[in-house]
Amino acid sequence: MPSHSSFLLMALLYFIILFTISSSSAQGPPSPGYYPSSKLNSISFDQGFGNLWGPQHQKVDQDSISIWLDNSSGSGFKSLRPYRSGYFGAAIKLQPGYTAGVITSFYLSNNEDHPGNHDEIDIEFLGTTPDKPYTLQTNVYVRGSGDGNIIGREMKFHLWFDPTQDYHNYAILWNPSEIIFLVDDVPIRRYPRKSDATFPLRPMSAYGSIWDASSWATEEGKYKADYHYQPFIGRYKNFKISGCTVEDSASCRPPSVSPSSSSGLSRQQCTAMEWVQRNQLVYNYCQDPKRDHTQTPEC
Ligand SMILES: *[C@@H]1O[C@H](CO)[C@@H](O)[C@H](O)[C@H]1NC(C)=O
Repeated sequence: MPSHSSFLLMALLYFIILFTISSSSAQGPPSPGYYPSSKLNSISFDQGFGNLWGPQHQKVDQDSISIWLDNSSGSGFKSLRPYRSGYFGAAIKLQPGYTAGVITSFYLSNNEDHPGNHDEIDIEFLGTTPDKPYTLQTNVYVRGSGDGNIIGREMKFHLWFDPTQDYHNYAILWNPSEIIFLVDDVPIRRYPRKSDATFPLRPMSAYGSIWDASSWATEEGKYKADYHYQPFIGRYKNFKISGCTVEDSASCRPPSVSPSSSSGLSRQQCTAMEWVQRNQLVYNYCQDPKRDHTQTPEC
């Protein structure tokens, strides 16, 4: 019976594909061969940051800080200084269990200086229901992200590990020619400066926060924060900031994240990034058919 045997063949193929997908993402990306986070000294929380909001929902413990969200408040912190460029990293451990609606973040922004048309570079962990993985959302806003004209440049990933079990290193490199997002020293996304209109150029500060974004964070707002599970805690340590502040001389250069001192990534780093984008990418704004791509010429 041809239809019966082709059904069996299809079923077999299906299981082979499933097996290949699950086994390849279980092993993690190939080694990037270079570990920029190990080249930079950590600073204590107090050396680099201070409270921004919700100070009663923060616990600073030597090198680490915990911030939490409950039904009365979230919390946020901010770097003591603004930067023109730099490497900004932290080891972060996320709340397990039910975390829908909750966002734990580490990001750069100048929204306090330029309300309504600010720049931003985001690492945001979108909370989830216990049966599903966290989503790591990376985003870049250029001169405007509020006041009706919201042009986000989201790329979302699932991680190749459980981010609630251990601390992992997350970092943003922002230099005059590109932005690189790194997870445990693996570059996951590269956003080059294709034009001045599509690249953040004004000074930004570094921030961390935990807050209720129930309206959109989890499956477009389908699952909301549930304060039966409070407090929701974000844990941060091993802060690394190596950059150029607005007071530094014009010759200041941020560190390189690649083995060559010039910008760019090594062949091995590119291979690791390609693996992440092939296996872990779950959303890419450039490939969203619902979006108006005249607003994002870099795509
Ligand atoms: C917030 O949570 C606390 C602790 O569970 C509870 O006692 C309090 O009533 C809650 N407040 C509101 C406004 O829901």
